[in-house]
Amino acid sequence: MALSKRLKALSEYYDHQSIIWDIGCDHGLLGNSFQAITSVREIHLVDPSVEVIKSLIDAYITDPSSKIHIHQQHGQNLKINHSSNCIFIAGMGGKEILEISLNIIPQLTAKDVLIVSPHRKILELRAYLKESILNLVEEKLIWEDGQYYQIFCLSLDPKYSKISLYGDDIWKGDTGRKYHSHQLEAFLSHQDGMGKAYTTFLKELNP
Ligand SMILES: C[S@@+](CC[C@H](N)C(=O)[O-])C[C@H]1O[C@@H](n2cnc3c(N)ncnc32)[C@H](O)[C@@H]1O
Repeated sequence: MALSKRLKALSEYYDHQSIIWDIGCDHGLLGNSFQAITSVREIHLVDPSVEVIKSLIDAYITDPSSKIHIHQQHGQNLKINHSSNCIFIAGMGGKEILEISLNIIPQLTAKDVLIVSPHRKILELRAYLKESILNLVEEKLIWEDGQYYQIFCLSLDPKYSKISLYGDDIWKGDTGRKYHSHQLEAFLSHQDGMGKAYTTFLKELNP
């Protein structure tokens, strides 16, 4: 099955690593899209839901040559035990992604990339990542089916800089300008936690 625009944008950060981790995989489409890539040795689909695991087994464990391994597990407890990993954590709230990242980051090696895309609590996740040992390879903004999605590709590589609190490249271009108006409207009406400083940033930004 063809990947959606958002899942394709996530997959494009793969950079020749041997092991794929799709944490919170649900349908498993993202991880499974790497089956034909010769440099990929193993694909790990991780999800705590019993129902999800049953569907994954039905969908993917038919071919003995499949690279897919299925784990019924929370990302907070996952052991990676490999080097050369491309790790995706997408489609969850920033709080869950933060908790999973707390477990994953100490296990990362120099060749690994961590690609995350939170659906909520994005500011909180950015603030945590900014203070973490990770650097930002690239950030992207995707518009699909009436929703905006921020995507961050992170690594330990010191040639990259820290992620910023509110974003840089995400505000560029037509999508960035529309996102700016959308965010300004959303945060003017309900400012909780970090929202006040973010609104000041948005008012001063002129994309
Ligand atoms: C909305 S789906 C996202 C699916 C896919 N990653 C995507 O972006 O399209 C969220 C999935 O995360 C799983 N999930 C929830 N908490 C999790 C956790 N702590 N660790 C790993 N997966 C989790 C859920 O069971 C669900 O299947």
